Amino acid sequence: MPRKKLKRFAELEGFDNVFFDDSWRDFFGGGEVVLELACAAGQYCLALGERFPEKNFIGVDVKKERIWKGAKKAEGMKNVGFIARRIEDLEEYFKKGEVSEIWITLPDPHPKPCKFKQRLTSSRFLPIYKRLLKAGGVVHLKTDSEDLFNFSVESFEEEGWECEEIIRDVWKGGAEGVLAVQTYYESMYLKEARKIKYGKWRPENRGA
Ligand SMILES: C[S@@+](CC[C@H](N)C(=O)[O-])C[C@H]1O[C@@H](n2cnc3c(N)ncnc32)[C@H](O)[C@@H]1O
Repeated sequence: MPRKKLKRFAELEGFDNVFFDDSWRDFFGGGEVVLELACAAGQYCLALGERFPEKNFIGVDVKKERIWKGAKKAEGMKNVGFIARRIEDLEEYFKKGEVSEIWITLPDPHPKPCKFKQRLTSSRFLPIYKRLLKAGGVVHLKTDSEDLFNFSVESFEEEGWECEEIIRDVWKGGAEGVLAVQTYYESMYLKEARKIKYGKWRPENRGA
């Protein structure tokens, strides 16, 4: 592994905004927790963290190099932090009902059927999100992939989630509010004139 990467991995351990256990509780000292899954360098966490200082944002990605970049940018922010782990392991960090919102931003589409289980909206992941979310909590999904989006709509429905909103072309006429935050992949795909889709779901019978 290149030395620069190794150095960054070692540095991660010393960052106070990168959590290896439930130390995020002490770091934030209270307030709502919003997760950005597949965050890479955490563009949603950083943007929403500035916009909503009363809420806390945690980016999760298995790639430490990307988390390093996000954590560096978030230095000095008291409401943004990161976890460099697999989403599958998140229940080691959070108790049931501790999270108020989950953003899944431009996740890998995994086009081959043999990889569908790895899609972050597959039946492997939705029960985890359901347990993490508190009453009234929601999952937001943004993707450029029509195939992944249609798969997700079906998957949430099959797992008994209520769909609150679907937008098939977020940037048609200009995106508004939190939807106007652009991730790295989103800006890349927009240059290729790909349409960004957005959906919002809530576990059934868990109204606000
Ligand atoms: C296509 S990138 C999107 C990054 C960013 N959200 C953006 O829009 O620019 C997908 C990211 O998901 C992460 N990822 C995929 N599966 C994961 C998993 N099971 N647990 C944690 N991270 C995962 C990858 O490491 C990668 O950084």
